[in-house]
Amino acid sequence: MGSLLAKLEGLRDEAFSALESVQTSSDVEKFRVKYLGRKGLITSLLRELPSVPLEERPKLGAAANKLKTELDEVVRRKLEALKSGLKSGDFIDLTLPGRSRYLGKKHPITRTIEDIIDIFRSLGFSIAEGPDVETDYYNFDALNTPDDHPARDINDTFYLAKGICLRTHTSPVQIRVMEKQKPPVRIIAPGRCYRKDTPDASHSPNFFQTEGLYVDKGVTFGDLKGVINNFARRMFGSGIKVRFRPHFFPFTEPSAEYDFSCMICGGKGCRTCKNTGWVEISGAGMVDPAVFGYVGYDPLMYSGYAFGMGVDRITMLRYGINDIRYLYDNDLRVLGGL
Ligand code: DAH
Repeated sequence: MGSLLAKLEGLRDEAFSALESVQTSSDVEKFRVKYLGRKGLITSLLRELPSVPLEERPKLGAAANKLKTELDEVVRRKLEALKSGLKSGDFIDLTLPGRSRYLGKKHPITRTIEDIIDIFRSLGFSIAEGPDVETDYYNFDALNTPDDHPARDINDTFYLAKGICLRTHTSPVQIRVMEKQKPPVRIIAPGRCYRKDTPDASHSPNFFQTEGLYVDKGVTFGDLKGVINNFARRMFGSGIKVRFRPHFFPFTEPSAEYDFSCMICGGKGCRTCKNTGWVEISGAGMVDPAVFGYVGYDPLMYSGYAFGMGVDRITMLRYGINDIRYLYDNDLRVLGGL
């Protein structure tokens, strides 16, 4: 019996080393016939079983069956591997971390605009749009901005033809909406704007704003403050404070600029807020009655507030970018990480 067991062991070793040269499915079939077939080596070994003492036969039988099952399994796997194109020696290590692929995503400015829209939509605002190429009339005149206003200077504005320019702000959308619609009007208008600025850390000749306008009976500056406060907290967190400073815009009276408490240093003072604890977001005010005159609204019946917001500025603050040019350079080393 000892010798038969040893033969079985030898057969096992032989089979496994023969396996290394099994490359094709016909090799596999030959292998199967040779070891597992009806006239195969295992069967012929078992034919010698009668020569073994009776009490030792079960042990030998079990060992032979075990080898059969083992080789059956090997044959099955080999065929599977051939089917899936794996070569011998290949194996799949499921514990390895996956290879990450670069996934495209929305530009940070787009994400900011979408969040601005979500917030104002929830406050009852609709979304309005206007053209990037504007007429003098909508960009300046109807916004009560006289001919001699510095913003109209050829050095500040991209003129495409006489009376036609790339809009310098989103405010002309106010006029376009009011021309078409009677109060109440409650819109925001996100979009691209253009000014003849030399690019530097805080200037880009094209940039984004979002305009806001609410006109109805009895709208007050208090409503404006309420809505801007709400926006600030939802965009940057509940700890944000808002302050309004007196300012001048031709299309609002009174006018203000508004700042948010610096979200980088928490208002203590840092480089981003130039040690003031505040960062400027844009301008706002009560719609000037002269503007209502351009769109045929009765200033005695209606009042309204308007505001702008610098989308690039908000994006830079959210993502901690200190140079606006990063937003327009299309450098994936920067944008990809935001
Ligand atoms: N259009 C102004 C600018 O580009 C920002 C602004 C100020 C918009 C006051 C407004 C406003 O709607 O009421 O600087």
